[in-house]
Amino acid sequence: MKRPKITIVGAGNVGATAAHWCASKELGDVVLVDIMEGIPQGKALDLLQSGPVEGFDCRIIGSNDYAVTENSDVVVITAGLPRKPGMSRDDLLKTNAKIVGDVTEKVVKYSPKSTLLVVSNPLDAMAYVAKKVSGFPRNRVIGMAGVLDSARFKTFIAEAANVSVEDVHGFVYGGHGDTMVPMTRFCSISGVPLETFLSKEKIDQIVERTKNGGIEIVNYLKAGSAYYAPSASVVQMVEAIVRDKKRVLPCAVELEGEYGIKGLFVGVLAKLGTNGMEQVVELQLNDTEKTLLNKSADAVRGLIQVLEGK
Ligand code: NAI
Ligand code: 2OP
Repeated sequence: MKRPKITIVGAGNVGATAAHWCASKELGDVVLVDIMEGIPQGKALDLLQSGPVEGFDCRIIGSNDYAVTENSDVVVITAGLPRKPGMSRDDLLKTNAKIVGDVTEKVVKYSPKSTLLVVSNPLDAMAYVAKKVSGFPRNRVIGMAGVLDSARFKTFIAEAANVSVEDVHGFVYGGHGDTMVPMTRFCSISGVPLETFLSKEKIDQIVERTKNGGIEIVNYLKAGSAYYAPSASVVQMVEAIVRDKKRVLPCAVELEGEYGIKGLFVGVLAKLGTNGMEQVVELQLNDTEKTLLNKSADAVRGLIQVLEGK
């Protein structure tokens, strides 16, 4: 059986940690690519040399040249800049759009049949750029944010209810920003509604903390943003695809009228397997949930309008 080939573009915090988890789970051979000379080569070699200790066996190479990415099955795009002092959100949007656009063009040249998993921020807009530049069908361009936001949501619930995180089920819808929608009505602890364990006030606090989950980490780290949970999240999506697991995970997917939204990447539950995003799961939302999701989609639409100069 051919081993899956996983390329990760951007060998920074998220990319390198994702490579680590892909290797330790033996999901396939891993290629790390970055614009910085020596960085992907050094990190890939270092990671490869941990194989004899950790007991994993896969090829791991690093390069600045996309030729080595040829025929990748999955390409994770983490290339981009973090927001710097004095840089507006719109400046970051345009800078990263250029980076993600360039990266996508090079990736597609060598791996026209790959599935792209976009991580770079602002996520929903960068997934839109990757889709547009690649010309891929929507099942092969997916954004990672919902798995991360949901992991934060579940972590806070487990902590507050003093239960194992393994028994907490829940997910976050919407864009990867402060309009995201933690779906409390669908959240449970072993199938039992959340309200059995937590007060409404506590649940509301958790919803707010989840929405600010990214900035909470940035405020601690100061010089960067989260990367352990983000990379674990993207690797869960990689695994679902390369092992054809048919997992139902919250992902940023281009909606084609589902939930009344068209032409935008928005986080919803979707099934992931060999063919990438194999199905959008459409839930019956109540009026409040619909309003919140539409508001979040409007925020994503605003980003796309800035990008397209409208
Ligand atoms: P980082 O700064 O540690 O790594 C980014 C890497 O991209 C650097 O090594 C840089 O050299 C590389 N890069 C820049 N331009 C490039 C180009 N044209 N081609 C190839 N490589 C290029 O940043 P980190 O922490 O790894 O985050 C990466 C991106 O992921 C950021 O945009 C961040 O905001 C985003 N992010 C998104 C999350 C999500 O939930 N969607 C969660 C965490 C991070
Ligand atoms: C996060 O949510 C920075 O998007 C990143 O941590």
